[in-house]
Amino acid sequence: MKIEFLKQYKNKIVFITGVSGQIGNFTVKFFLKLGCIVYGIDIKKSKIKSNKFIFKQFDISDTLKVQNFINDIYNKYKRIDVVINNAALSYKTNFKNRTNKELRETIEVNLLSPINVIKTIAKKHNSKLICKIINIGSIYGVRSPDFNIYDNYNNMNSEIYGGSKAAIIQITKYFAALLARKNIIVNCISPGGLKNKNVQKNKFISNYSKKVPLGRMCKEDDLKMALLYFSNKETNYTTGQNLIIDGGFTLC
Ligand SMILES: NC(=O)c1ccc[n+]([C@@H]2O[C@H](COP(=O)([O-])OP(=O)(O)OC[C@H]3O[C@@H](n4cnc5c(N)ncnc54)[C@H](O)[C@@H]3O)[C@@H](O)[C@H]2O)c1
Repeated sequence: MKIEFLKQYKNKIVFITGVSGQIGNFTVKFFLKLGCIVYGIDIKKSKIKSNKFIFKQFDISDTLKVQNFINDIYNKYKRIDVVINNAALSYKTNFKNRTNKELRETIEVNLLSPINVIKTIAKKHNSKLICKIINIGSIYGVRSPDFNIYDNYNNMNSEIYGGSKAAIIQITKYFAALLARKNIIVNCISPGGLKNKNVQKNKFISNYSKKVPLGRMCKEDDLKMALLYFSNKETNYTTGQNLIIDGGFTLC
């Protein structure tokens, strides 16, 4: 795509959490391809090798480490242009066996850690510049799963996952309003279920796809225009929005 508005991405500073997972890995490669300098965190190793990708492996719920990492970027560049709060976890075990530790850990990673990132950015950001924050929500933040598509109710996202995703959609609105005058623009992308042959059985893929008006699961590529839209300076008047990309799953 050779359009003028893509030129702005050259040497944009992008900060992404959860870079070693399915969406994170795709998102890093996408922004690198656009010419950005990408900083990433994950508790797991990343396979991406690029001199424009600066990766740190640690637990995102370590608030001080996250703050230090972000502060180092500000010390070097005096800005972060795009922030993507993408890291998340979900226990896929039976609700009846849910432990307090699992509940707390899910809230810690999926909700408190993005708040820590946003707080750190808000403290450091120079309000003469624009910072675009993109939170990653989920369709399960706006509706319940249809439990019938999960084999014996197994391998489905937890109740607390849905709760944390509803909360991330809400804090998107809160911080969009709170930080608007600081020129921090906050939006959310809520994908439908992504196809992942490594972890999903064919039966699940088929059950899920039948429920989607557009007839298939989400692909990483389906998210790229939303990433572009919310990270672009041509869209600075859009804030506090949650864009659902699910092939129509949540319509029915
Ligand atoms: N895959 C889907 O179907 C789907 C659908 C809707 C929303 N989402 C959302 O998209 C985002 C990315 O999901 P994904 O599908 O790529 O999942 P994923 O599990 O493949 O990736 C998540 C990444 O976050 C990292 N992570 C988890 N806990 C961490 C911690 N404590 N510290 C640092 N890193 C940690 C994991 O190591 C992993 O690499 C998540 O916010 C998820 O809720 C995914």
